[in-house]
Amino acid sequence: MTDIQTSYPPSAEFAAVANGDAALYARAAADREAFWAEQANRLHWHEPWTQVLDWSGAPVAKWFVDGKLNVAYNCVDRHVLAGHGDQVAIHWEGEPGDSRDITYAELLAEVSRAANHLAALGLHAGDRVAIYMPMVPEAIVSMLACARLGLTHSVVFAAFSASALRSRIDDAQARLVITTDGQWRRGQAVSLKAAVDEALADGQASTVEHVLVVRRTGIETPWTDGRDQWWHETVAHASAEHVADAFDAEHPLYILYTSGTTGKPKGIVHTTGGYLTQAAYTHHYVFDHKPGQDVYWCTADIGWVTGHSYIVYGPLANRATEVVYEGTPNFPDEHRHWNIVEKYGVTVYYTAPTLVRTFMKWGREIPDAHDLSSIRLLGSVGEPINPEAWRWYREVIGAGAAPIVDTWWQTETGAIMMSPLPGVTAAKPGAAMKPLPGITAKVVDDKGVSVDPGETEANGYLVLDQPWPSMLRGIWGDPERFRETYWAMFADRGWYFAGDGAKVDADGDTWVLGRVDDVMNVSGHRISTAEVEHALVGHAGVAEAAVVGVSDETTGQAIAAFVILQSGVDYPSEQIVAELKATVSQEISPIAKPRDITVVPELPKTRSGKIMRRLLRDIAEGRTLGDTSTLVDPKVFDALRP
Ligand code: WTA
Repeated sequence: MTDIQTSYPPSAEFAAVANGDAALYARAAADREAFWAEQANRLHWHEPWTQVLDWSGAPVAKWFVDGKLNVAYNCVDRHVLAGHGDQVAIHWEGEPGDSRDITYAELLAEVSRAANHLAALGLHAGDRVAIYMPMVPEAIVSMLACARLGLTHSVVFAAFSASALRSRIDDAQARLVITTDGQWRRGQAVSLKAAVDEALADGQASTVEHVLVVRRTGIETPWTDGRDQWWHETVAHASAEHVADAFDAEHPLYILYTSGTTGKPKGIVHTTGGYLTQAAYTHHYVFDHKPGQDVYWCTADIGWVTGHSYIVYGPLANRATEVVYEGTPNFPDEHRHWNIVEKYGVTVYYTAPTLVRTFMKWGREIPDAHDLSSIRLLGSVGEPINPEAWRWYREVIGAGAAPIVDTWWQTETGAIMMSPLPGVTAAKPGAAMKPLPGITAKVVDDKGVSVDPGETEANGYLVLDQPWPSMLRGIWGDPERFRETYWAMFADRGWYFAGDGAKVDADGDTWVLGRVDDVMNVSGHRISTAEVEHALVGHAGVAEAAVVGVSDETTGQAIAAFVILQSGVDYPSEQIVAELKATVSQEISPIAKPRDITVVPELPKTRSGKIMRRLLRDIAEGRTLGDTSTLVDPKVFDALRP
């Protein structure tokens, strides 16, 4: 087994500021509901709740029953009212090099204008609005304007196709789409509004009454009079005064579509009070956030849940000053992120392992050419981070001193569930460690029996055995699928099944091994794809690896690996394949040795950066390819086919 059990000492300075929070665990364990009530009190409530949790009718929890609040008021107004109107909320960095600093007072004016215009369009609390926009400030303003009016937004990632947009519009029955004329993609202005037109012109009537368009690139834009409106001709002229109404704690704040095991995306529903409570709580403690001092940068896109909880709702509720960047990390060159860190003095940097591995591939001389000394804390999210990437991240980006918070959570959980608390608890490279105070989790076998700590062969299922404030309240329009997907496996116990495999080490710390459908069974041995990938990436010649289980007559499943070599490595592929098989045998066990290893120039990834294992399995097993519509570049397959 390759588990690396090193904990690391947090920096003395960091430990000193964070140590007081050790008591959090004890307080939360002693009285969970009182603990969450305390966290909810970080927010402004127009009306107090009468009950912290109503868990009578599992699987649907109600948190902060009868409480009323306004999410936008909490994220914007109250900071201005408290005298922080001049504090920068957003340092926005456009892809072409333009930039804007938006203070809380300016954000309040913009959100109020947008809210006034949306109300003038006849939209009412409970109506749905689709937001299909690149990372421009108006995207965040739009989300907050919806929240302010009680409109339920559905953000659709701007790189999704017209048909993906249409299916989401139809499922949620959106009355309005907010978009931009175009978006910048590596120096080119690419149309976006045209995709909205295509989505709405499929011959079927849609629920959409208006399309509100922000001019971003100046690209030529098709127009439908009566339906389409320019933001600068409408929102910009609306009044900057707007009084926020309060909404019920269980009012639906947003729907966010995510892929399940079937082809049809699930509309994950999040509500208001519990969601904002946990988003703000986690952002505060996990990132040890200091309002007015930190410059926080989460590199996600608002098209994903990380962008919702850790660009918009969590940080703004906590009066963060944050960087929002429109473009890719290698435009105009691979120095872009580090130039931005230097320009704004970023102190907290939260990104995904796939990007860390990309930085590794580009070489450490790139970050080394910059002064990154402002960074004091690093975050990771989206997949298990391999120890090699973890160490590189800490050493090269964190100067060997910044703690890393490896945050496990899901679109469905709404906010971070497991993470070290930096300076308070230990961390190990690649481990999600322990649930945060107020959260509980278990690693169990298929009968619900907890797996023994240190039992490395017995990888279990990760379950959440108690409701949490930011939990999903359902799948939009499909209560049956909601129950079936998350609550059926341990129905008698009322546990949420996370879909992830995990194990608990001898110290009682949790290692998330990846989705259960990615756990292979070779001759009756359970082996995680992530484990084999860790081993492969541990070889000096390998930049990235993806592993899938494929059917095998003798062993049930066999392991197929696809690897990208480090640039500059040009071994004959037979030699590297032999070395890699030996590495895996050595690092894990001969049973984990891949049957097939294919050296490839690229891996098929979703636009959120996740490797599409299902498609790799199709390739490895010689099947016709399934749906590739969410891929970054479907042409990648031409290079992959044997
Ligand atoms: C995986 C992203 C290990 C996991 C916020 C989960 C992780 C899925 C981690 C959710 C982590 C996310 N360590 N695995 N720190 N973070 N995952 O819905 O498999 O895009 O179930 O939410 O990502 O992905 P989603």
